[in-house]
Amino acid sequence: MRKGVKKATSTTLAALLKENRVFKPSKEFKSQAYIKDKSIYRKAVKNPQAFWEHQAESLTWFKKWNKILDWKLPFAQWFVGGKINACYNCVDRHINSVIRNKAAIMWEGEPGDNRVLTYWDLYREVNKLANAIQSLGIKKGDRVAIYLPMIPEAVMSMLACARIGAVHTVVFGGFSAEALKDRINDAQAKLLITADGGYRRGTIVQLKQAADAAVQNCPSIKNVLVVQRCKNEIKMQQGRDHWYHDVMKNAQSYCEPEKMDSEDLLFILYTSGTTGKPKGIIHTTGGYMTGVTFTSKYVFDLKPEDVFWCTADVGWVTGHSYITYGPLANAATVVMYEGSPDWPERNRFWKIIEKHGVTIFYTAPTAIRAFMKWGTQWPEGCDLSSLRLLGSVGEPINPEAWVWYYEYIGRERCPIVDTWWQTETGCILISPLPGVTILKPGSATKPLPGIEAKVLTEEGKEVKVGGGYLALTKPWPAMLRGIFGDPERYRQTYWSRWGGKYYFTGDGAKIDEDGYYWLLGRVDDIMLVAGHNISTMEVESALVDHSSVAESAVVGIKDEIKGQAIAAFVILKDGNTPGQEVAEALKQHVVNKIGAIARPSKIIFTSDLPKTRSGKIMRRLLRDVAEGRALGDVTTLADTTVVENLKRKYEEET
Ligand code: WT7
Repeated sequence: MRKGVKKATSTTLAALLKENRVFKPSKEFKSQAYIKDKSIYRKAVKNPQAFWEHQAESLTWFKKWNKILDWKLPFAQWFVGGKINACYNCVDRHINSVIRNKAAIMWEGEPGDNRVLTYWDLYREVNKLANAIQSLGIKKGDRVAIYLPMIPEAVMSMLACARIGAVHTVVFGGFSAEALKDRINDAQAKLLITADGGYRRGTIVQLKQAADAAVQNCPSIKNVLVVQRCKNEIKMQQGRDHWYHDVMKNAQSYCEPEKMDSEDLLFILYTSGTTGKPKGIIHTTGGYMTGVTFTSKYVFDLKPEDVFWCTADVGWVTGHSYITYGPLANAATVVMYEGSPDWPERNRFWKIIEKHGVTIFYTAPTAIRAFMKWGTQWPEGCDLSSLRLLGSVGEPINPEAWVWYYEYIGRERCPIVDTWWQTETGCILISPLPGVTILKPGSATKPLPGIEAKVLTEEGKEVKVGGGYLALTKPWPAMLRGIFGDPERYRQTYWSRWGGKYYFTGDGAKIDEDGYYWLLGRVDDIMLVAGHNISTMEVESALVDHSSVAESAVVGIKDEIKGQAIAAFVILKDGNTPGQEVAEALKQHVVNKIGAIARPSKIIFTSDLPKTRSGKIMRRLLRDVAEGRALGDVTTLADTTVVENLKRKYEEET
C-alpha cells in the first residue's frame, strides 16, 4: 500500500449493496465539474435544435451551416451546408497554442515499450501519411480498410483518411482473414493499412498473414500499406505491398485538409452483431463530430489536465468515438495500450494507471468482472490515487460489479458513468453527468440533454414506470445515416416498428419511479418462462450477486411445460468448487432475488464462456449446447475452443 491511498474494505461492499444506496456527487467533484446544475437539461428540452447548434459551434467550421436539421424520416441531415474537416478539428486547430507541445497520445506496447506523441508530432505524422495515402491513388470518397494492432498508426490512419476525405473502415485486429475479406468486399476498399504483427499475451498476432489471405479474394484492393511493428517475418508482394516507413520517408510534410460537407461520409464501421451478415454502419462528419465532442467533454468532465484512458480497441465504435475523435477534438491527452490486461501479470491495467497518472478510466463490465475474479490484491498493490472518474460501457453493469468498481478501483472517491449507446448511435446517449446526477448502481440513469428516449410497449404506448422496448424518439446529430449500400435494410432494422416513427434500439429497458433507465440487454435475450418475460441479464445479475460466482450467462431452453426453462452457465470465483451443493444454493439465491419463476432448472459450471471479440456473450451458442444441437456459426467468436470444450463437457456429464 502507498501512503495516502485508502484501502478498500470488504465489509462495505455488502453494506453498499444491501442499503440500495444511491451515490450523490461529492462536494469535491461537483465544485470543479463543468456541469454543476441541471439547467442544461431544461435548455435542451426547450429547444433541442438550438442546443445542438450551440454544441456544433465548439467545433471549427470552414463554412457555417444554413440549416440545423433536415429530417425526412428516417433520413436525417445535420448542419446542412456546413463545411468541416474532422482531422483539422482533432489536430490542426490545436497547434497554434501551447497545446502544440502537449501529449496527444501516450502509448504503451504490450512488451513495455512506450511512445509519446505531442499534438505537433501527430500533426506532422498525419500530414505525411495523408500525402502518402494520396500517392497510392486514394481520393475523396474512396474507402480505406484499416487492420492494425493498437498502435498510434491506427489513430493516425483514421485521421489521415479523414484529412483527405477518404472513408475509413477499421476492422478489429482480432478478426480472422475471412471476416476481414467480407468487410473489405462490402466496402469495396481500395487500400488496406495493416502491420506485420501485433503483440497479444506475449505472442505475435500474424496480421499480415491474415491480410494476405483476405486480400487474395478482394479484387478492389490495389495497395497494401504495412507498418513494421514486430519485425516478424512476412511476405511483401511486389507492386502491391509497401512499407509504411518507406512511403513516409518521401512524403511531403503538409497536406491541405479537404473541405468536407457536413454530411459527407467519415467512416463505415461493421457491427459485431451476434447473428447474420455484418452491417456497415455509416457515419457522416459534422453531426458525428458534434456528438462525440460534446459527450467526451461533459460525460467525462474532460479537462485539459486530464489523462483519459479508454481501454477499447479502435476496431470498435468506442475506440472511434472515445480514443480518436471525441478526446482529440477536445485537445485531451489519451492513453493507448496495445495488449492484454493480464500480461505479464493481472495488474497490468493498474500499473498503466499508476505509471501514466490516468485520471479518467473507461472500460467494460466484462473486464470488471474478470478483475473481480482475479482478486483485489492486484489493484490494491498499485497507486490509483490519480483517478477521479470511472466509466463503463458495452453491456449492463450488474450492481455487484458496479460497487466493486466503485470501491476497489475508485476507492469510493470517483463517480461512475455507466454509458449506454451503440455503434449506430455514434456517441453516448444515456448516461449520468457526473457533477449533477445521483447514481444508482446498475442504472445508466437518464438520457443526456438533447436526447429523447422512451420505453414503449409492443404497440408503441409509452411506459412511464415499468418495462418495454427502448426507443429513440427524436433524431440526434451523431445518429447513423444508414447501412452502407443497403437503405432498405436500414429502414427494416431500425425503423419498421411503431409505424416507422421511432428508432428501435433492439434493447429492453425498465423505467423506475424516479425516471431512471435500467437497460435489460437485447430483446432477443428475453426469455418467456411460463408466460413471464424474464431477461437473461436479470438472472445473470442475481447469480453474480452470490459470493461464489464470478460470471454467468443465462439462456432460455425449450421446455414442454413452461415453454422455456432457464439454463445458467456459471463461472465460480477462484477457490470455489463446483458441485450439487453450490448449484442448489445458486438456484435458491435466484429465487430469493427475483422469485420462484426465475429459478434456473439447470446450472452448468464452466471455466469460460463463448464471447465475441468485443466481449459479448454469444447466448445463441449456449442455447445450442444446452439443447444438444450442433453449434451454429462460430466465426465471430474470440476463441472457438471455449464453446467446443463446453459442448464436449456438457455431453459427457448429461
Ligand atoms: C449494445 C451496443 C456502445 C459501444 C460499445 C458497444 C449494449 C452498450 C450499455 C450500457 C447496457 C449497454 C446494448 C447496446 N450496451 N452499453 N451502458 N448498459 N447495455 O457497441 O457493439 O454497437 O453494442 O451494447 O445492448 O444496444 P455495440
